[in-house]
Amino acid sequence: MKEPFYVTTPIYYVNARPHLGHAYTTIVADVANRYHQICGQETYFLTGTDEHGDKVVRAAREEGLSPMVYVDQVSKLFRDLWPKIHIKYDYFIRTTNPDHISIVRDLLQKIYDAGDIYFSEYEGAYCFGCERFYTERELVNGRCPDHKTVPEVIKESNYFFRMSRYQDWLIEYINTHPDFITPDRYRNEVLAFLREPLDDLCISRPKSRLKWGITLPFDEQYVTYVWFDALVNYVSALGYPDDKRFKTFWPVAHHIVAKDILKPHGIYWPIILKAAGIPLYRRLHVHGYWNVDQGKMSKSLGNVVDPLDLIDVYGADAFRYFLMREMVFGLDASFNEKSMIQRINSDLANDLGNLFSRSLTMVHKYFDGIVPQGDAAPESSLDRDMKLYVMKAIGDYQKGMESFAFHKALVAIWQLVNYINRYIDITAPWELAKKKSQHKQLQMVLYNILEGLRVIAGLLYPFMPERCLVMQRHLGMPSAAHFQKLEDLRTWGKTIPGTKLPKTITLFPRIEKDNLKLSRRGVPATEPSFEAKPEISVETFQQIDIRVARVLHAEHVRGSKDLIKLKVDAGDVRTIVAGIAKSYEPEDLTGKQVILVANLKPAKLMGILSQGMILVAADGDTCRLLTVDSPCEPGTAVM
Ligand code: ME8
Repeated sequence: MKEPFYVTTPIYYVNARPHLGHAYTTIVADVANRYHQICGQETYFLTGTDEHGDKVVRAAREEGLSPMVYVDQVSKLFRDLWPKIHIKYDYFIRTTNPDHISIVRDLLQKIYDAGDIYFSEYEGAYCFGCERFYTERELVNGRCPDHKTVPEVIKESNYFFRMSRYQDWLIEYINTHPDFITPDRYRNEVLAFLREPLDDLCISRPKSRLKWGITLPFDEQYVTYVWFDALVNYVSALGYPDDKRFKTFWPVAHHIVAKDILKPHGIYWPIILKAAGIPLYRRLHVHGYWNVDQGKMSKSLGNVVDPLDLIDVYGADAFRYFLMREMVFGLDASFNEKSMIQRINSDLANDLGNLFSRSLTMVHKYFDGIVPQGDAAPESSLDRDMKLYVMKAIGDYQKGMESFAFHKALVAIWQLVNYINRYIDITAPWELAKKKSQHKQLQMVLYNILEGLRVIAGLLYPFMPERCLVMQRHLGMPSAAHFQKLEDLRTWGKTIPGTKLPKTITLFPRIEKDNLKLSRRGVPATEPSFEAKPEISVETFQQIDIRVARVLHAEHVRGSKDLIKLKVDAGDVRTIVAGIAKSYEPEDLTGKQVILVANLKPAKLMGILSQGMILVAADGDTCRLLTVDSPCEPGTAVM
C-alpha cells in the first residue's frame, strides 16, 4: 500500500483579488498533487481563503458592504479562478465556515486548559497593515519592515500563547528532522530566528476593537484571528479530530508557502500543534517571490499581474508551464511577459509542438494514421539506446519532482524531447519510406517515436493536464485512461498497434507579436527594439549563400563561456564557431537543423577557423536558433 499524500496552499486573504503569486503556489500544489496521483497514491489537496480580521473589515467598508457579503464575493473570485488554470483541489476551506470556527474554539480551549494561554496587559508597537505587534528588534529604523510605516503604540489586555516554553523542543526537532523545512536556506532562517528568545504570541483582540473574528471559548469579550484561526484550517479541513480524512492524511501533510509566512508556519504552527497534542505536519516547502519589474508586486505600483489576463492570451497550460519552468523553487524569480512568450514559442511550440506534429504527420502519411507494429523489425542499438534514454529521463524527472525541483523535472522531459527529435533526424523515416525493403524498419521507428511521445505526455501531465490529455487522445490512448500512471510509463509497449489516430492538431500555437496587444493591464508589453540598418537591394541580398545545415557534433570551446564549436553538414562538412553557449548545451544541438550563412569570409575565433555563421534570434544574452519547420536535406538553399 502506497503512502497517501496531503498538500496544502496558504489560505489567501480576501482583501485583494487573486494575483500571480497566489496562482503560482496553487499551481505548485496542483502539480505536486497530480504527480502523486500518477505515482498511484491517494491524495488530498486543500486550498481556501482567510476571511477574518481588521483588513477585511476595512476593505468591506471601502466597498460599502458588510464583511460577510464582501468575503463571499472575494472568496468566490478565488474559487472561480482555480478551474480556469486547471487547478483541481479536493476541498476549499473558508475560515468563516462554522465547522472551522468550532474546531478553532475546541483547540483554543484545549490549550487554555493545559495552561499554555494566559491573560496579560501588553503595550507595544502595532502595525495595522500586518495586524500584529512588533518588537523593537523586528522594526527597521522604527518602521514596519513590510509596510514601511511607523507602528502605533497601543496598550491593551490580551491573551497570549506561551510559545517560549517550546523553543528548545522546536530547535531539537528541526535539528533532528532535516527535511522538516526545505529548501535548507529557510530551515536555517528558522533556526536563526530561534537563536533569539522567542516572544509569546498575542492571540486575541478585544471585541471593542474588532468583532470580525472567532469568539474565544473562555472569554466572550475577545476574538481570536490571524494565526490561531488561519493555521488551524489545515486540520479543521480534514475534520479534526475524528474524521477518517484526518487520520489518513494528517500524518502525510505537506504545506507549501512563500517565504513571507515562513515564521508562522515554521515556528507558530509546530508549537500550536505540539501544545494541542497533535503530531506535527510532515514537511514545509518554502518558495521565493515572483517579482515584477525588479520589485515586489503591489497595488500602489500598479504592477500586479492578474492570471486571468495571461491565460486568456496564452492558455492556462502554457501559463502553468512557464511558471514552473522559470522559477527555481526556493529562489525569487522575475516575471516578464517577453520571456514567457519566448519560452512558449521555443519550448512548447517549437521543441515539443513540432516533435508531436512531425511524428503524427508521418504516421498519417506512411500508415494512414494507424499505429504500426512495434516489433516489426529486429531492434538496432539506436532503438535500444532510445529505450534506455527514456528510462533515464523518467528517473531524472522523478528525482526532480520528489525534491520540488520542478524546473529540473522539466529539463529532464525536454532532454527527452530533444533526444527523440534527434532519433527522428538520425533514423530519417522519410528515407526509409522510399524503399519497400525498409518498411518494417519504418514501422518500428515510428512505433518507438509514438512510445516516446506517450511517455512525454504522461510525465508532463501534472504540469499541463489539459494539453496532455489532448496529446494522449491523439496518440491513441483510450480516453478512459484519464492519465497514465508512472508505472505504465516505465513499461514499454503500451501504445496499441492497429489503433487509428485522430487527425493531428497544433498543440501550442506560436505567439505572434500582434498578440502582445492583448497584454495584461498595467504593465505595457515590451516591444523589441530594432537597430536601423541601411536598405539593400535584392541583388545584394542574393549574394548571401544561406543554407540549411545539420549539426553533426558540438562541443564547448575550451576557455570560452560563450562559444560552441560545431561540425555541420551543409552539403559539405565544415566547422562553425557560434556564440550560443549561454543558451544551449552542446548535447542539445546534435541533430538539430540550423540556418547557415555559408559564404561569410572565414574568421578565427579562439584559434579555431569558423567557416560561416549560424543564424539566431538574439535578445540580450539569450538567443534562439533559426531552423526549418520540417526536416530538409542538408545544403538546401534558403531563399
Ligand atoms: O499570508 N510571489 O495570505 P496572502 C510568490 N492569509 N508567492 C506569492 C506572492 C509573490 N509575489 N505573493 C503572494 C496570507 N504569494 C495568510 C496565510 S495560511 C494559514 C494564512 C502567495 O493572501 C504565497 O503563497 O497574503 C504567499 O505565502 C501567500 O500568497 C500569501 O497570501
